[in-house]
Amino acid sequence: MKVNPIEWNAGELVLLDQRLLPGVVSRLSCRDVEEVARAIEGLAVRGAPAIGIAAAYGVVLASREGIPAVKKAISRLSVTRPTAVNLFWALRRMESLVASLPPGMGPESLQKALLEEAATIHREDMEINLAIGAHGQGLLPPSCTVLTHCNAGALATGGYGTALGIIRAAREAGKQVRVLADETRPVLQGARLTAWELLSEEFDVTVLCDSMAGSAMKRLGVDAVITGADRVAANGDTANKIGTYPLAILARYHHIPFYIAAPMSTIDLSTPTGRDIPIEERPPEEVLGFQGLRSAPDGVKAWNPAFDVTPADLISAIVTERGIIRAPYADNLRRLFEQHDH
Ligand code: MRU
Repeated sequence: MKVNPIEWNAGELVLLDQRLLPGVVSRLSCRDVEEVARAIEGLAVRGAPAIGIAAAYGVVLASREGIPAVKKAISRLSVTRPTAVNLFWALRRMESLVASLPPGMGPESLQKALLEEAATIHREDMEINLAIGAHGQGLLPPSCTVLTHCNAGALATGGYGTALGIIRAAREAGKQVRVLADETRPVLQGARLTAWELLSEEFDVTVLCDSMAGSAMKRLGVDAVITGADRVAANGDTANKIGTYPLAILARYHHIPFYIAAPMSTIDLSTPTGRDIPIEERPPEEVLGFQGLRSAPDGVKAWNPAFDVTPADLISAIVTERGIIRAPYADNLRRLFEQHDH
């Protein structure tokens, strides 16, 4: 596994700066919580699990100044990006740990305890991805073409990836996988990140404009669509990068299975349906140009929702670290949590 998006090094959070990929491979050091919050908002670190991990380390950075600073850090980090529920899940874990610590603990012991928890979240995510990969690869035939959207790879997680984890695991199981990567307008996570990540491990990867997915299904042959998720509601409706929903409709029309790969930390039983998932709206400039180069006329408006919601009935299966679940999602998701709790 060559790609390592998040590291804790000598008291700093060191991120692979995903804004600059694939042209420049450079690390961004965050020394305080504000730097972490800005890195999340600006997409230097992105992808639901990676956002959660980075935020957990952000809390560690604040803990040098004691519990009031930790509380402030949690509030600041929780307003960075609203859709990916892993952010709130990770912050809740950090908050619960603080609540369980003996009162009057010095800043050094506090930081040590929080660092252990952040490192555990980080390490567990890697293990979870391996499990998702092991379960999910069984869904793929020995030789196949998989279409994916955005980047749900090592870059978006603690390493290995969710959707791309399944692709990695399929190759490790001896399968031949060809990957079609949607470019993923407007920020191009597919063209910039998925293509870079997969090429660095010599996968057979081809980039498509998002608008080519239907033709690819019809003319190139696609055996499965696999994407990640930012939040799965209790009824199975799933928020993921904008463009996922039309892909699911196209997959249904072409009789292609549409799979979501997501850790349990992305499933949010407290959000009843997709309508209740907050959808982040990002700056119009992302749509009106790319990396400072303007492509639309000055003065025009742009709509820029960062995510859309795929209704549960378009999803063939959700692959988690605890196994693969299918409809009826409301019952089966609830059972998945209950099984573990008992
Ligand atoms: O805006 P981004 O790049 O953070 O969006 C990322 C996605 O939509 C991913 O598919 C999702 O977070 C899953 S990552 C394993």
